[in-house]
Amino acid sequence: MGQVERVVLVTGGAGGIGRAVAERFLERGDLVTLADLSGERLLEVVADLAAHRDRVDAVQVDVREVAECRRMVEETVERRSRLDVLVNCAGVWVEGPTAETTEEEWDRTIDVNLKGTFFACRFAIPHLERTEGCIVNLSSDAGLVGTAETAVYCASKGGVSLLTKSLALELAPKGVRVNAVCPNDVDTPMLAGQARDYGGGDPQAYLDALLAKYPQRERARFIRPEEVAALIVYLASPEAAPITGACVPIDFGSTAGY
Ligand SMILES: NC(=O)c1ccc[n+]([C@@H]2O[C@H](COP(=O)([O-])OP(=O)(O)OC[C@H]3O[C@@H](n4cnc5c(N)ncnc54)[C@H](O)[C@@H]3O)[C@@H](O)[C@H]2O)c1
Repeated sequence: MGQVERVVLVTGGAGGIGRAVAERFLERGDLVTLADLSGERLLEVVADLAAHRDRVDAVQVDVREVAECRRMVEETVERRSRLDVLVNCAGVWVEGPTAETTEEEWDRTIDVNLKGTFFACRFAIPHLERTEGCIVNLSSDAGLVGTAETAVYCASKGGVSLLTKSLALELAPKGVRVNAVCPNDVDTPMLAGQARDYGGGDPQAYLDALLAKYPQRERARFIRPEEVAALIVYLASPEAAPITGACVPIDFGSTAGY
């Protein structure tokens, strides 16, 4: 028997992980709507996924705005008649000493990572209840443990982790599952941007310092977006039926302990 075709909405769909997630769902035969702040990069990604043309579309959105989250979900459901899976990949990174953090950095990070994730879920819930669908949120290693000089990002991702658990309990009676994945450093434009913006003029030294912290030592490498996508697609699959309220690390053991 063939697999059932699902409607999947991926926020941050023009980014590194979002795009890999879209590709994997499309390969499986699902319908995917990509949502992202960058209309330009959305067009590029949709063009790159031309092989799946009739099963992929895009909506430009700013998830910081509550009304935009509502529109994003409504447009997806209007086009495809249903919603089975929501993957919240939209996110931004910020780091630096807390004593130097600005209100703008706080607002942007919390609004994209936490508020955007919350309101995307908020508007998707009635549709997911109809399909007994599921949500996968992008948390982080920084949503499981604290790391220095990342208080705002940790606050946002810690929020995503507990939001995930709370929603899982709330929606379990309706047959809707809610999980999060918690990756450490993934080789995406976000990581390259971190190295560029916070590397003190030496991006490679920044990346080398990140790798030096992994338990694998000289064998350490960055996680590939496809590896995170595979975990997300598994969590959204029928085989993962018993898994809800989980914040699953994908981090080479970096949050396992000292
Ligand atoms: N790359 C990593 O090392 C890593 C590790 C752990 C968690 N994460 C999380 O995974 C998710 C995806 O990250 P990525 O590495 O693919 O990053 P990315 O920068 O490649 O993609 C993020 C996407 O989010 C979009 N976005 C930003 N603000 C938005 C807004 N206001 N509205 C709509 N879209 C918006 C961006 O345009 C971008 O396309 C993020 O939540 C990130 O925090 C990433």
